[in-house]
Amino acid sequence: MKLLTFQTTALVLLLIVFPNKTWGCEQFANGDNYEERHIRMPTWDHGITFQSEEPSNSQDFDVMSFGATGDGVTDDTQAFTDAWAAACKVDHAHLIVPRNRSFLVGPTTFSGPCSRLSMRVEGTIVAPPSPNYWRGFSTDTWLVFSLLDSFTLEGDGIIDGQGQEWWAQSCKVNKSNPCHAAPTAVTISTSNNTRVRDLTFTNSQQMHLIFDECIKVHASDLLVTAPEKSPNTDGIHVHASSDVLITDCIIGTGDDCISIQTDTFDTRIKNVICGPGHGISIGSLGKGGSFSNVSHLIVDGAILNGTTNGLRIKSWQGGQGAANDIQFQNVRMINVSNPIIIDQYYCDSRVPCQNQTSAVEVSEITYKNIIGTSSTATAIKFACSDTVACHDILLQNVNLVMHKTLHPATSFCENAKGSTRGFINPISCLAEI
Ligand SMILES: *[C@@H]1O[C@H](CO)[C@@H](O)[C@H](O)[C@H]1NC(C)=O
Ligand SMILES: *[C@@H]1O[C@H](CO)[C@@H](O)[C@H](O)[C@H]1NC(C)=O
Ligand SMILES: *[C@@H]1O[C@H](CO)[C@@H](O)[C@H](O)[C@H]1NC(C)=O
Ligand SMILES: *[C@@H]1O[C@H](CO)[C@@H](O)[C@H](O)[C@H]1NC(C)=O
Ligand SMILES: *[C@@H]1O[C@H](CO)[C@@H](O)[C@H](O)[C@H]1NC(C)=O
Ligand SMILES: *[C@@H]1O[C@H](CO)[C@@H](O)[C@H](O)[C@H]1NC(C)=O
Ligand SMILES: *[C@@H]1O[C@H](CO)[C@@H](O)[C@H](O)[C@H]1NC(C)=O
Repeated sequence: MKLLTFQTTALVLLLIVFPNKTWGCEQFANGDNYEERHIRMPTWDHGITFQSEEPSNSQDFDVMSFGATGDGVTDDTQAFTDAWAAACKVDHAHLIVPRNRSFLVGPTTFSGPCSRLSMRVEGTIVAPPSPNYWRGFSTDTWLVFSLLDSFTLEGDGIIDGQGQEWWAQSCKVNKSNPCHAAPTAVTISTSNNTRVRDLTFTNSQQMHLIFDECIKVHASDLLVTAPEKSPNTDGIHVHASSDVLITDCIIGTGDDCISIQTDTFDTRIKNVICGPGHGISIGSLGKGGSFSNVSHLIVDGAILNGTTNGLRIKSWQGGQGAANDIQFQNVRMINVSNPIIIDQYYCDSRVPCQNQTSAVEVSEITYKNIIGTSSTATAIKFACSDTVACHDILLQNVNLVMHKTLHPATSFCENAKGSTRGFINPISCLAEI
């Protein structure tokens, strides 16, 4: 029921924002002659297949039958690992985390191979609130699912990181704290055909959900919430994965709603509502001189509300590699600080970063049907490297004005080449080639 409500809310909101095929903007009428110049259609659109009909005799493994207490205080880790071990042996099993109960589970790795296992979270899984619990464990992770094929993580339950004590320890919150890693709530790694749906993720210690080295992922109907001031609490983070589909999610946290990291290809993000937070980000890429490569990404249908960035590509000076073939379309901005931004001078460090000659090459980036309001005067910012300019940027049907006053906004370009089609406001500063 709850799920249905999220999905319906998201859909209704997107329909209100984009009531018809011209996206409710008469100014866009002359923009119909768009050619699919750079953007290949995603090959996985028809190819993505997840586990088919499950057998009617599929077996349930309820954590309560494995000794869980479900009072939210007693440590239920052992019951979860025992239930996992049992369910993993059975084809199409369901691991059940029952409704109306709260289960305290410590840092745990749930490993495959298992056969088409589904974990149904109907109740709540809470993390130990104290970082002290992590003594002897890696502080990078809380719940890890790895080496799985056709794994489903689903249910209308809640995964609660109880991150408050971790946030207080963060060097971003208190500059006199040392900088340490805090756990990602759920990490799904080296897995194929993963489905994550209907869940609520909240108050993660650091990031909420990571896909790392996964092939074929579909994450849908997720609600991710954490306070605007919680440090590094990205919603969904994708690294080194391909054939990724993220649809119908509502995300509001203290960092990126969705972040896409290197070696991620063939990714589609559709119908996402984001805010508060730092927006939808590609990067940061090329940190510490590293090689990064991200390509063939589409963000189609998003509302960014009160975020510090809208659609951002960020890379460090001195990096190598490429971010290319990226399309952003049908996006509504509401009071966003940097609605459209490419920043090749990204520097998230205590010491200032020096300019260098190498940089991650940013090219074939399309912004199509992007409307709404900016909280700052600079609605479009392309800050590209002196030596590795951004090129083949296409702006098509963009209308961004300042929030409340609706005064005109401006564009900023440095070493940015590209072209425009249709109605563009603010006036483009791209260097035409
Ligand atoms: C959960 O709690 C609600 C409200 O107390 C109750 O109506 C429902 O039957 C309970 N469900 C289960 C599975 O215990
Ligand atoms: C995932 O697919 C890759 C490529 O087909 C394969 O090498 C790998 O073993 C698979 N991993 C799992 C966990 O099934
Ligand atoms: C920041 O951390 C220092 C050292 O841990 C502590 O003494 C200080 O009270 C903290 N400040 C705030 C505002 O929490
Ligand atoms: C944007 O966020 C504000 C503040 O949270 C909220 O009041 C408003 O309803 C949101 N607008 C939309 C269209 O979601
Ligand atoms: C980046 O990855 C794509 C897809 O795998 C590949 O075609 C391209 O050559 C890579 N680019 C670089 C600079 O390695
Ligand atoms: C717009 O965003 C700015 C900067 O984040 C914020 O200070 C301001 O309160 C917001 N205005 C509204 C009406 O939400
Ligand atoms: C780096 O280069 C940019 C663009 O030329 C310039 O605006 C910026 O001031 C330079 N930064 C440093 C630290 O030299």
